[in-house]
Amino acid sequence: MDNTSFPMKPVIDGPMHVSLKHDSAHKHVTGQAEYIDDIPEPAGTLHGGLGLADRAHAQIVSIDLDAVKAAPGVVWVMTADDIPGANDVGSTGRHDEPLLATDLVQFHGQPIFAVFAETRDHARRAALLAKIEYRDLPHWSDIAGARDNGAPFVTEPMTLKRGEPEAEIGKPPLRVQASMEIGGQEHFYLESHIAFAIPGEDDDVIVWSSTQHPSEVQHMVAHVLGVPNHAIEVRTRRMGGGFGGKETQGNQFAALAAVAAKKLNRAVKFRPDRDEDMSMTGKRHDFRVDYDIAFDEDGRIHAVDATYAARCGFSADLSGPVTDRALFHADSSYFYPHVHLTSQPLKTHTVSNTAFRGFGGPQGMLGAERMIEEIAYAVGKDPLEVRKLNFYGKPGSGRTTTPYHQEVEDCVIARIVEELEQSSDYQARRQAILEFNEQSPVIRKGIALTPVKFGISFTLTAYNQAGALVHVYNDGSIHLNHGGTEMGQGLYTKVAQVVADAFQVDIDRVKITATTTGKVPNTSATAASSGSDLNGMAAYDACRQIKERLVDFACRQWKVDQSEVEFLPNRIRIGGDTVPFDTFVKAAYYDRVQLSAAGFYKTPKIHWDRAAGKGHPFYYFAYGACVSEVSIDTLTGEYMMDRTDILHDVGKSLNPAIDIGQIEGAFVQGMGWLTTEELWWDAKGRLRTHAPSTYKIPLASDRPKIFNVQLAEWSENAEPTIGRSKAVGEPPFMLAISVLEAISMAVASVADYTACPRLDAPATPERVLMAVERMKALG
Ligand code: MTE
Ligand code: HPA
Ligand code: MOS
Repeated sequence: MDNTSFPMKPVIDGPMHVSLKHDSAHKHVTGQAEYIDDIPEPAGTLHGGLGLADRAHAQIVSIDLDAVKAAPGVVWVMTADDIPGANDVGSTGRHDEPLLATDLVQFHGQPIFAVFAETRDHARRAALLAKIEYRDLPHWSDIAGARDNGAPFVTEPMTLKRGEPEAEIGKPPLRVQASMEIGGQEHFYLESHIAFAIPGEDDDVIVWSSTQHPSEVQHMVAHVLGVPNHAIEVRTRRMGGGFGGKETQGNQFAALAAVAAKKLNRAVKFRPDRDEDMSMTGKRHDFRVDYDIAFDEDGRIHAVDATYAARCGFSADLSGPVTDRALFHADSSYFYPHVHLTSQPLKTHTVSNTAFRGFGGPQGMLGAERMIEEIAYAVGKDPLEVRKLNFYGKPGSGRTTTPYHQEVEDCVIARIVEELEQSSDYQARRQAILEFNEQSPVIRKGIALTPVKFGISFTLTAYNQAGALVHVYNDGSIHLNHGGTEMGQGLYTKVAQVVADAFQVDIDRVKITATTTGKVPNTSATAASSGSDLNGMAAYDACRQIKERLVDFACRQWKVDQSEVEFLPNRIRIGGDTVPFDTFVKAAYYDRVQLSAAGFYKTPKIHWDRAAGKGHPFYYFAYGACVSEVSIDTLTGEYMMDRTDILHDVGKSLNPAIDIGQIEGAFVQGMGWLTTEELWWDAKGRLRTHAPSTYKIPLASDRPKIFNVQLAEWSENAEPTIGRSKAVGEPPFMLAISVLEAISMAVASVADYTACPRLDAPATPERVLMAVERMKALG
């Protein structure tokens, strides 16, 4: 591998903690990276298309598919009656998500039938010829509609409570009750969902799936086909982005392709086009946060009582853990002496919402930062001062207990904020902005510094396990496989670094191989930012076993003590000899040493009692902070990102270049969520923002004009994670909250900072303009 473009330390220091390039970077940019649609198709491959409901909530009265069947190129039309096993692809075991609707339609765009044809074009044209009669039922698409209609919950709500919130909330001199609306978000991965099924003998099927969770796809395909899990092998080499959108949502495409492949004994590919993907797969949950906060004249929080209502869509999917994680982050970095938080996972007649980077955490945290703003405007302080006053304290301060009764023991937020405040010259710039705003009638500026504290671990304890399979071949080359999936985040590179480091060999000796359920079973989704923590450790465990056998062999053969065997770069020192790695491995093979091992890891320390709302759900926290400066045009509501400075904690980085890339990407994605990305459903419950023409993700030109990203170089994980690193995938997403708050400050200037602008998300130019008008009316 050519690493000349990155500052790379020689292998002598081990390949961990160095900026190796992403193993596929050159292939991503030259088009050589193979995605599922690039795999050569076997002769006779068929293509799937879908018949989607055009009602939000209706009884299906009749379905006439004659014209579909007669259309050119069509080989088979599949309805729910053709499913050999269960008509169910829900990930929760609730049976609330049919693969194909039977008599009831629950959202606009729900699949009713599938068409398999010689080409994708044939399949899609044919699907439009169906005649379906519906009897409409009352529907609602959003949180307000759900509340008005007394909508049920899709899953059990959660409550967190500590102290005496009911008694204490009336005591302090100051109190604010208000609410915040927070929009959802489309994942907009560049590669849409896709599945490619190749039938085998007996019950066997191989499914290539663009999924973050090959094991779940395997189990779901088996469930739909009515065969044991062992018949199904799911493979994933890479995704062109997942962002949470491929944690559960790939199940349906894989199941449809597999059913048709078995029925027709032909390879079948299912790839929805962008509009279909956007209409029929789940998104980030919209939230409405209703808060009641009590605080003193200094701005110190005394009690918080808040409700987190979420638009979940028609089924549970991951809405339970998503709304739970919103509550787990409703404290952001702040200590709440008395607190009561509840979730409301509301059913709506929209596509079932799902995981998206941060997994409810961003919505919870955004609510907390809004509460800080409220307090700051009420007491007339810079929100940063109010933040500092309310940060979790040091151990022993009596200010370390979270609303879920876990102690925050590793809190570095005060140091991070302090360092960033200095390095970004926050105070002087804020002063300059206040002065600028005084004399600038139209353009106004804002600046905000916001913290991030994100809990690392799946909150479902069982998911915090991983496996890996490492083979050392007798030529000294190494085959690496593990349960994690690659979606662009660099996980494969990081785990390969762990393996290369363990054997002290060059990274190009390690062959990175596609994730497959046939090599490592019962894996968890690559999610919750835990990919490198879990799979890195599992791979390390496999290497450890092989190394132990190798050391044993060296001691026997060379008649030396263990202490005299040392893995040096590409060599082994055994007593006075040094032997090249490949020569040594070959000798071990001839001595019949087992050169393959399965590794395993489970996260220690964590436990969670959901009913009691108490436990230790997170192994540790990742921290970061961000200062953003923006300019707004008070006549149009348009804005510009002038500058962003970030200081982020990834522990001892496994790969600084990749981590900085994750931070930059996460920040920009978060900025899109809070500014331009707006999902909009019409009165019929149709998603009208289902293409890039109407759904606006950030462009390269939207990035802050000055963009400084630093890692907290001094940080090491206090827990013994792989290389003392910390998870990086999701936490930096929430750094973008500083953008919304900076816009909010610019808006507040219109009323001389006397009132909290209560700017909802996304702060589209339209919304900014309306907030400016509200402020003008006050001023
Ligand atoms: N980075 C890229 N390039 N593409 C992605 O799809 N997904 C994010 C994050 N970073 C994503 C990404 C999400 S939602 C998660 S949970 C983590 O990566 C998952 O990978 P990890 O656990 O290996 O960090
Ligand atoms: N994070 C991300 N994905 C998940 C989680 C979580 O906590 N739980 C289940 N899937
Ligand atoms: Mo990430 S939302 O946990 O896939």
